[in-house]
Amino acid sequence: MRKIPLSFTLNGKSYEIEADPGARMIDVIRNDLELTGTKEGCGVGECGACTVIFNGDPVASCLLLAGQMQGADILTIEAMSELDLGHLLQDKFLEEDAVQCGFCTPGFVLVAYALLQKNPNVTREEIREAIAGNICRCTGYIPIVNAIEKTAEHLRDA
Ligand code: FES
Ligand code: FES
Repeated sequence: MRKIPLSFTLNGKSYEIEADPGARMIDVIRNDLELTGTKEGCGVGECGACTVIFNGDPVASCLLLAGQMQGADILTIEAMSELDLGHLLQDKFLEEDAVQCGFCTPGFVLVAYALLQKNPNVTREEIREAIAGNICRCTGYIPIVNAIEKTAEHLRDA
């Protein structure tokens, strides 16, 4: 496979790597960059486990290609503990018992991060819509929605 130079920002840090532009973004993130917080579930864009924030929007990294990383600004779950909103979301997920096996959690946290960063005045319905592409097999969605709603309330009260 022919590799090409790629430069991008990931979790606030500049990267210059060589990668096959046709490789999946999730493989570059997990294997080349060894950021294994991003999970692979379905591999076909249906479960949201592989979500990353790509130029401000949550995307399924199993559907994007390495070549699309050129010039992009990407956040993965590893960045969340360094960011106030990401840290707050993780705390609320724990407080609301919104994590069981945790496999889906990075995806939910990143979708919630992108949502609340754009608009902390979200309704419960808007939270439900935002996480519609994310599947959780064990916690159930009510605690997850509660955690995101509590985070939004905290932001509004701050
Ligand atoms: S692994 Fe990418 S959406 Fe399921
Ligand atoms: S906590 Fe297990 S899949 Fe969601």
